[in-house]
Amino acid sequence: MDSFTLIIFGITGNLAQIKLIPALYDIEEKNLLPKETSIIGIARSPQSKEEFREYIKKVLTSENRHHQHAIKDEVFEKLFTRMHYLNGNLIDRNLYKKLSQFLSQLDSENKKLGNRIFYLATYPDLYDQIFQNLQSEKLNEQKNGWVRLMIEKPIGNDLKSAKDLNKLLLSYFREDQIYRLDHYLGKETLQNILAFRFGNGIFEPLLNKDHVDHIQITATEDFGIGKRGGYYDSVGALKDVGQNHLLQMLAFATMDAPTDYSDAALTKERVKILENLEVDPKNLVLGQYDGYLKEESVNPNSSTDTFFAFKTMIKNARFKGVPIYVRGGKKLSQTVTEISIIFKTPHNRLFKHLRSGTEPNVLIFRIQPNEGIVLKILVKKPGHRWELDPTYMQFCYRLGSDSHYFPDPYERLIFDAIKGDQTFFNNVEEVESEWKFIDPLAKSKTKVHSYNPGSWGPKEADQFIQKNGRYWLEPSMDFCAI
Ligand code: BG6
Repeated sequence: MDSFTLIIFGITGNLAQIKLIPALYDIEEKNLLPKETSIIGIARSPQSKEEFREYIKKVLTSENRHHQHAIKDEVFEKLFTRMHYLNGNLIDRNLYKKLSQFLSQLDSENKKLGNRIFYLATYPDLYDQIFQNLQSEKLNEQKNGWVRLMIEKPIGNDLKSAKDLNKLLLSYFREDQIYRLDHYLGKETLQNILAFRFGNGIFEPLLNKDHVDHIQITATEDFGIGKRGGYYDSVGALKDVGQNHLLQMLAFATMDAPTDYSDAALTKERVKILENLEVDPKNLVLGQYDGYLKEESVNPNSSTDTFFAFKTMIKNARFKGVPIYVRGGKKLSQTVTEISIIFKTPHNRLFKHLRSGTEPNVLIFRIQPNEGIVLKILVKKPGHRWELDPTYMQFCYRLGSDSHYFPDPYERLIFDAIKGDQTFFNNVEEVESEWKFIDPLAKSKTKVHSYNPGSWGPKEADQFIQKNGRYWLEPSMDFCAI
């Protein structure tokens, strides 16, 4: 693999601290970085090399629920040897002159090819000026080596702004240089859905309208917005996780088999699902947890949603008429992310007269926690009488809280970008089709109902699914426990 320089704009920001620096440590620990790789962190305040070192060390050793394993000194030293710090204002052209000189110096010292990844861990309203400045120093041009750009959500705040942003991106970079990151695509448990569905033969023939009654997708968190009020209050739950992570879960669970394992074929199938989702604002419930208005940096009159539930269907022959219920939000009963496929119950079930005798089989892709894939089935309770016991056939990862068994999504995706693999990144079409679906819901002026922290959301969300004769499944912690 070719060596390269990674330039992180916003190295002292939240994203860099929580995700990027830990991911780089993990990549280093696995010896995946080419020898001459350099990393340049950019932020506004001046820092000496020693202060920068202390900062990186502190980030890696601070409490981080996404990164709980021990930091090894030798790995830290190896990583820090690659790291450099530049200070400056991101809208000041002089910073880019300094950056350009520094990059040339690194290239000549290490006989590098000029490969670069720019990671914009900054507010999107700075992108335009960052791009202009990069261009003025010709830093977006692929002269000798490759140049890649990594950005992540929010990619726009609605369809129009997403289109404007994509236009802006494409006026400085080619699509094959742009890595739009949705970290759910880098989740091992999400990618395993592809292996489970398309690497085996027995389940795929069952995933269609003949056998599936409905699908439920849940991504709930038992914590609130923390210190992110400034961002969250202008976005809300539907756009924060619904527009991206949950729609991706939906696509992974329902897409047709790609013709081959390639970026183009996989993305095409995901996009086909996203473009064919029925949208109806009448099938939307929004909620806000009690106490939200007192959170830091939240407008005391805010009507921002911290919970949403919607129903959609896929306009294709395979899933025609199969409802898909999606819900997500904060300060709810449990932190759990899963996809449940609820199968139809045949009328002629032999044991339908017994307790549980008509319970449906459910296939659960548990993204987190108690990660795994399980099938809820009924078995005979041992004994002289006939009794049925609902239980789980399970594949479990059994990850401890400090488990390092599989890569964090950022580790996975940064490494993919280094390799030049865009399979698990969003292209223009994908982001825009997500917005095409979410826009009418987000703009619908649906009433925002309040709910108690620790509940499963407003009662209207229960009524909404019950009117279709169904109910939300309570995510089980009985399977794949450690
Ligand atoms: C982020 C959202 O994109 O995803 C957060 O902004 C949310 O609000 C997070 O908590 C969930 O990610 P994960 O990986 O913890 O499920």
